[in-house]
Amino acid sequence: MVTVNEKDMVFHLSNGRISYLLYVMESGALGHLYFGKALNPNGNYSHMVEKAHRPMTTYIKEGDLYTSYEHLRQEYPCYGTSDYRYPALEIQGGDGSRICNIQYQGYEIRNGKQALPGLPATYVEDENEAQTLQITLKDTWRNLEVVLSYSIFRDVDAVARSVRFVNLGEETFFLNRAMSMSVDFADADYESVQLSGAWSRERAVKVRELDAGVTAVSSTRGNSSHHHNPFLALKRKHTTEQSGDAYGFSLIYSGNFLAQAEVDNHSVLRVMLGINPFGFQWKLMPQESFVTPEAVMVYSPDGLNGMSRQFHRLYRRRLARGFWRDRERPVLINNWEATLFDYVEEDLLRFAEKAKECGIEMFVLDDGWFGSRCNDKSGLGDWKANRTKLPEGIKGLSENIEALGMKFGLWFEPEMVNKDSDFFRAHPDYILQTPGRSQSHGRNQFVLDFSRKEVVDAIYEQMYVILRDAKISYIKWDMNRSISECYSAAYPPDRQGEIFHRYILGVYDLHERLLRAFPELLIESCASGGGRFDAGMLYYAPQGWTSDDSDAIERLKIQYGTSFCYPLSCMGAHVSACPNGQVGRVTPIETRGNVAYTGAFGYELDLNGLSDAELETVKEQVAFYKKNRRLIATGDFYRLLSPFEGNFAAWEIAAPDGTRALVTVTRMLSEANGPYRRLPLRGLYAEKEYHIQGRYNAYDAYGDELMQYGLILEDKSSGQIIDGSGGCEDFLSVLYEITEKQRDAGSVI
Ligand code: DGJ
Repeated sequence: MVTVNEKDMVFHLSNGRISYLLYVMESGALGHLYFGKALNPNGNYSHMVEKAHRPMTTYIKEGDLYTSYEHLRQEYPCYGTSDYRYPALEIQGGDGSRICNIQYQGYEIRNGKQALPGLPATYVEDENEAQTLQITLKDTWRNLEVVLSYSIFRDVDAVARSVRFVNLGEETFFLNRAMSMSVDFADADYESVQLSGAWSRERAVKVRELDAGVTAVSSTRGNSSHHHNPFLALKRKHTTEQSGDAYGFSLIYSGNFLAQAEVDNHSVLRVMLGINPFGFQWKLMPQESFVTPEAVMVYSPDGLNGMSRQFHRLYRRRLARGFWRDRERPVLINNWEATLFDYVEEDLLRFAEKAKECGIEMFVLDDGWFGSRCNDKSGLGDWKANRTKLPEGIKGLSENIEALGMKFGLWFEPEMVNKDSDFFRAHPDYILQTPGRSQSHGRNQFVLDFSRKEVVDAIYEQMYVILRDAKISYIKWDMNRSISECYSAAYPPDRQGEIFHRYILGVYDLHERLLRAFPELLIESCASGGGRFDAGMLYYAPQGWTSDDSDAIERLKIQYGTSFCYPLSCMGAHVSACPNGQVGRVTPIETRGNVAYTGAFGYELDLNGLSDAELETVKEQVAFYKKNRRLIATGDFYRLLSPFEGNFAAWEIAAPDGTRALVTVTRMLSEANGPYRRLPLRGLYAEKEYHIQGRYNAYDAYGDELMQYGLILEDKSSGQIIDGSGGCEDFLSVLYEITEKQRDAGSVI
């Protein structure tokens, strides 16, 4: 998959569907040629190096009026030598100089793909699944070695990149900026797509037309954040969900990030992704090395949806890992929205018994079970059961739940502490705080200094005891505030720029240790809902709580946006009570179920409060999800109608072998006498005949009819779905089951 033209020093990574091309310039720097649809492997490509003499340009060699890094497309640009755009690398030496010039030294090609020490990354199970090109560059002045790694996957249209820096000299210097990837595109005629929002409205799809200057999203909060996601896509103006060029860039990282697109004044576009340089500085002593997080670049000619399917395929099977990766996830019930902090053991058991009657498989106890925790002012850090609420402790409760025939899951917020806790009283120095300054709080809590091993150890020991002694199959790992006044007492002044990154390495380390000790533990990540919903967490936690907003209509947008990069198998989605706790909306329970099916499904309400009819619906929903959960987790996902663009949201999950599909269509507001509507489907086999079961109607049709003419939408507002019972017809959702028709035994073709 990696070929090298030794004569022209051109490297071509290709799996037959995509190509990534780079070369060594005459100057010794590394240049970028192309990224996109696969190119002929025999090309010469030299015409792609566009050089021109231009006014106001700084050239790198005397007598040469053509070679300027300002105009040449580069592979890993550095600060200081005639490129005035944002660099991927900026270093700072003891002499105060920040200039750097990295020159090609050599390359190596290996089958497979290496792991990154202490960091989450994609992986392979067999070394033929990917090939890795490593290019070594060097700044001889500083004796800095820079190793760029590129892994191309055989079965997914993606290239994974990371960079290793090694100080081979005798002087210490600092990395001020060390991006995971940079690509210079030949033109800037693109729109960028970002996933941005805020708490409870995370990952809304925002499209911006690129123009001269910088378009960027980032986090400085210590977590990837509710506000922006470490993801950026590029599309042409005419690219749709299903066709046209689409590029996706995703960072496998959960801390401060920067994703940036810069258009220069000659319309060359530079895209880069990595640790946010704002607030970052890493001291590199002689013989030390530093490895960046991994960035994944995807190209698809099949539009944004095609790009998403590549990410889904890679992240579900070669980023998520461990016991739960391919297993069917349990249908769970979580007590948070029903009780908040206010419960005792009998309440929980009543909850669980009802849930068991409905076929639910796991009971999850959320916040409030430990220390003196009765509200959010105290208890965080004391990971021992509150015996007033739980007289038999977590061990007793978990055994009682298991005796009902259910699994038991438990909430933790390992990175946080309340000042009103025994843990803080014993270790007041364990929080991140800048000496002499006041400390800001979020939700009355403070952030433990996870850059320090002894702090992580202390939390690990407490969690270990509970997980060892009780029957716990799952943990929900929460994180309810961002970092402020970031400073660690354990590090000297010239290492304070490392703390944000060291913090997240500590978070990863605790995950890793827990999974090593309890390999069958299912971890669901959460940060006030979707505040750390990123590819980094997916390596440890195969599912995450998508958002604290559980309203079905709001969730249409949140889940739709999340699906741009993340597979359905990782989106925690629950049916909650009405009126909804976040927006006060009342939606039919069928709609809540239909929307929540498209993820790791569960409930978040007191089932004892439901009517008999609603309970029957819950039983049917649980049975439906169990029957379909494998298809939902592994099928190809197609976004069909965007809730950002109209009154309808529709999506489809199709089995890759074309035998089945589920289509969910939700109409937000009712309409009078609406038009006839058809929805062209995707991913079916044209020649197969299917049975279509809607909510009210059923019929048969061939795959080509469903994909060309379209699925007929049931719409009683125009005389079809109003069932005569009156009431509000807003927020209606219909789920269509599409199943290949079995042929008669005799009709063998
Ligand atoms: C925020 C989470 O997103 C909620 O689901 C819940 O676990 C609360 N924290 C508990 O404090």
